[in-house]
Amino acid sequence: MTSRLVVLVSGSGTNLQALLDACADPDYGARVVAVGADRDGILALERAERAGVPTFVHRVKDYPSREEWDAALADDVAAYQPDLVISAGFMKLVGAAFLAKLRGRFLNTHPALLPSFPGMHGARDALAYGVKVTGATLFVVDEGVDTGVIVAQRVVEVEDDDTEETLHERIKVVERQMLVDAVGRIAREGYLVTERRFRFGSERPRS
Ligand code: GAR
Repeated sequence: MTSRLVVLVSGSGTNLQALLDACADPDYGARVVAVGADRDGILALERAERAGVPTFVHRVKDYPSREEWDAALADDVAAYQPDLVISAGFMKLVGAAFLAKLRGRFLNTHPALLPSFPGMHGARDALAYGVKVTGATLFVVDEGVDTGVIVAQRVVEVEDDDTEETLHERIKVVERQMLVDAVGRIAREGYLVTERRFRFGSERPRS
């Protein structure tokens, strides 16, 4: 069975594009059934429309409270009956209503090696700290800020002459590969989580 993906975006959508491209292969095991955003006029929404994927937008400022925004977003996402929801450059934290509906099926990709450098500026913060390696992390979203169970990570070396932009662009190259690889494996093989340990496949390891 093909897994149904809903992808949430806020920006240029290169991670979304990588998933759309991967899903064009029927053997990949997943397809993007909808793309949601927290703002209009972004390249990511154009990419979805070009691929013929339905889109929806919920702007926080259009709601009387953050909780109502969160509930409306959760309702729209859940209506597409996703097997997985992927935050791919979605620059908002979801709340209790969203997690109540979609917990365990909601993944986020982050441009740093968590638990280092969580938050909005993973590449900038790693560069400012002076680390020599950083990378990308895919994780299962929980109530914290970038604290969930880790699904996959990829490493990138920091170069002496890196700027935030050059470093983030190199991270995004491995991030897209990580995302496509991990989402495809989850779709085809399933996964198990034991405490904080994530494993692909549905067979429990011998203890
Ligand atoms: C990605 O690098 C993603 O990890 C980052 O935004 C970029 C989106 O790129 N997300 C965060 O920093 C979330 N904390 P894209 O729009 O080209 O896919």
